[in-house]
Amino acid sequence: EDTTILDFEFEAHPNPVGAADRTALLADLGFGKVFTDHMVVIRYTADRGWHDARVQPRGPIQLDPACAVLHYAQEIFEGLKAYRLPDGGAALFRAEANARRFAESAERMAMPPIPDALFLESIRALVRADRDWIPDGEGSSLYLRPFMFASETFLGVRPAQEYLYMVIASPAGAYFKGGAPSVTLWTSEHYTRAARGGTGAAKCGGNYAASLIAQAEAIREGCDQVVFLDAVENRYVEELGGMNVFFAFEDGSLQTPPLGGTILPGITRESLIRLARDAGVTVREEPYGIDQWQADAASGRLREAFACGTAAVVTPIGRVRGRGFDFSIGNGGPGMLTERLRQQLTEIQRGVAPDPHGWVERL
Ligand code: PLP
Ligand code: COI
Repeated sequence: EDTTILDFEFEAHPNPVGAADRTALLADLGFGKVFTDHMVVIRYTADRGWHDARVQPRGPIQLDPACAVLHYAQEIFEGLKAYRLPDGGAALFRAEANARRFAESAERMAMPPIPDALFLESIRALVRADRDWIPDGEGSSLYLRPFMFASETFLGVRPAQEYLYMVIASPAGAYFKGGAPSVTLWTSEHYTRAARGGTGAAKCGGNYAASLIAQAEAIREGCDQVVFLDAVENRYVEELGGMNVFFAFEDGSLQTPPLGGTILPGITRESLIRLARDAGVTVREEPYGIDQWQADAASGRLREAFACGTAAVVTPIGRVRGRGFDFSIGNGGPGMLTERLRQQLTEIQRGVAPDPHGWVERL
């Protein structure tokens, strides 16, 4: 394993946001609208490898119009959070898992993997520089967005020979507006997210670009998120546009779609499976059909369903709609198992509950 760590050159922002303005910004957080003072930039070229690691003032970057990513979308990203600890310190949650997934996404997109150690150091360097931006309200955190793209000026279709890796940070509150008690999903009948052999398991921008028309349809239908079905039978539930999905049954068991290469292997998903199994809950990673979902919701066999991800944390699903069907789950609000898992996870993340799996790294 490559354990390269470069020395980061630090250039402080000459004119950072003042403390009073920052406090005002942190008082009214949604998702993805407010950004911190600094960013990380690391360059890669085929001849020199990774070099020129910097923490510098956040700002626009210049790209040539023939920059490869603008044409062929060779781009990947990650999403993880830094949390404020009760004593005022800062912590990361399972950042090594994001480093691993980033390297796997890079491989799928024919990009050079950034060494895990360098990825982790870049995250720590940015959080240290901008730690005053970590909000301390419950449900708030500093969302970190590492990403990497083909920066070579070249229009031929082949893997680029130059890349930029960057990290930006955005203080964030609830992903869904108004911190709604539950969300309504829209089942697209036309669009799928990923097929076998495709890029579904990679966190590449193209997956999200391809999902937007279905997400727009969901919004137009008055729903919060699209839920995608499998591309072969148009039947099995895969995941939402930016979250994995779980089902909770009357016998106390949980089920979630299996990782088969077409869905993102969510770190929240994996953490919740672990926490549930620790608590003696049976968790099945097995396909679940939309027809079965509807029947189980109607019969009461299905008691709860929830979406999960770094941005969405754990969000109850209250209702599911599609062309010709519309059903509610339980009483349409948060269920008990959903709420228990959400609380367990967020208490570990915020350092107020024990961390039996060593998921939290204090910075
Ligand atoms: N599925 C998709 C398509 C996502 O974009 C995300 C968010 O990152 C997830 C699932 C959940 O992954 P994680 O829990 O690692 O954030
Ligand atoms: C995340 O949860 O980190 C994601 O990338 C999902 C996106 C919808 C913000």
